[in-house]
Amino acid sequence: MARVRQDHPGIPSTTKRWDTDVHVLVLGGDGFCGWPTALYLSDRGHDVTIVDNLSRRGIDIELEVQSLTPIRPIGERIRVWRQVSGRDIGFVRLDLAEESDRIIALLREQRPDAIVHFAEQRAAPYSMRSPDAKRYTVDNNVRATHNVLNAMVVSGSDAALVHLGTMGVYGYGWSGSAPIPEGYLTVKVSTPDGDIAREILHPANPGSVYHLTKTLDQLMFSFYSKNDGLRITDLHQGIVWGTQTPQTIRDERLVNRFDYDGDYGTVLNRFLMQAAIGHPLTVHGSGGQTRAFIHLRDTVRCIEIAINAQLNQEAGGKPQVFNQITETHRVCDLAKMVSEMTGVDVAYLPNPRAEADANDLNVVNDQFLALGLRPTKLSEGLLEEITEIAGKYRHRADHTKIIARSIWRAGMRTSADLVAELPAG
Ligand SMILES: NC(=O)c1ccc[n+]([C@@H]2O[C@H](COP(=O)([O-])OP(=O)(O)OC[C@H]3O[C@@H](n4cnc5c(N)ncnc54)[C@H](O)[C@@H]3O)[C@@H](O)[C@H]2O)c1
Repeated sequence: MARVRQDHPGIPSTTKRWDTDVHVLVLGGDGFCGWPTALYLSDRGHDVTIVDNLSRRGIDIELEVQSLTPIRPIGERIRVWRQVSGRDIGFVRLDLAEESDRIIALLREQRPDAIVHFAEQRAAPYSMRSPDAKRYTVDNNVRATHNVLNAMVVSGSDAALVHLGTMGVYGYGWSGSAPIPEGYLTVKVSTPDGDIAREILHPANPGSVYHLTKTLDQLMFSFYSKNDGLRITDLHQGIVWGTQTPQTIRDERLVNRFDYDGDYGTVLNRFLMQAAIGHPLTVHGSGGQTRAFIHLRDTVRCIEIAINAQLNQEAGGKPQVFNQITETHRVCDLAKMVSEMTGVDVAYLPNPRAEADANDLNVVNDQFLALGLRPTKLSEGLLEEITEIAGKYRHRADHTKIIARSIWRAGMRTSADLVAELPAG
């Protein structure tokens, strides 16, 4: 069995560090969040193995668009990391949705102390692109998560499982006066004997098929922690911005992925890249949508904090849920901020999503702050991103891939339709 740490039961102090021999599997470790997490954990002295089927690179080929940054093949990435750090990272190419027996064998062989699960199809627009993309997203994500949980039970693993969920499981329909709690909600139930309080999983309100899969993940976590005593942490992460970490900048061949296209590009990274090439900043709808954000450097730190907290917890409780966000902004305010910094105009396009034109977002994120997270604020990192990443690699941008083409319902007009109708010039 993996080693369960008993030296500091309960929530750890913020100054406590792991031993340097914690063995971590990073599922999806070739991706945008997974690669810098693998490097960060390796740099901190942990024994890291990446598990990935490289499907995200396959989707690049399908969509005929490449990361703005020139990401290297996984084997080269790992070789370069060994050169610059002297540390080995393992790699296992494995499809978590398809190869359940190999996952069991891997857990039996490697006995990890922690498993970080990033390995899902993660773009909401891509998940709404076509019936095939919807099916693929559900098949891939639900089966991958279930296969990991099942393999943990079959192999007798008591590893800490840390999963990347999303703020989108809560939906965006809650008003500012009711802050979104961390995973659980206390509700009042009226009975003939009076009101009683009950804690429930916060109601799910997915806004896309991708988000739907994340809400299903939550139920699987509840079941497997209750039924099999698995130790699970679900991180409801906001939109990640930024590209590099102190580890990925150590050699250009370690550079992280930067998606800018209409399907995979996340809103702020898209604005930064658009500003760098002088393309109007594409705001969908009024831009009144409020979203939660976190810098990539904070993401990797949060993963470490979450593993640490879970390893120090008694197994068998309900899944821990942390809201992994550091700030919230309205999309139109972000566009304005980038526009003012760069002089690039803002273009308002139809919103392909079926969602309210504007929403408030008030999110509790006390747990990570209490456990020592020191957030990187937008004001600190934005300019660096514009010059160091978007500006440096702008020659690699395919301008035809910027406009979003996925729509949420049949009959909706896409941004691409509207742009096509504009008079030339
Ligand atoms: N990027 C964000 O802004 C963001 C925000 C909130 C939550 N998240 C969550 O964080 C996780 C990582 O996101 P990301 O941006 O790094 O995505 P990504 O697509 O860059 O990385 C995911 C990785 O998982 C791998 N993968 C997918 N399915 C797999 C399978 N069946 N077997 C093995 N490997 C598989 C892919 O090849 C890829 O390398 C996702 O689960 C996502 O939902 C991301």
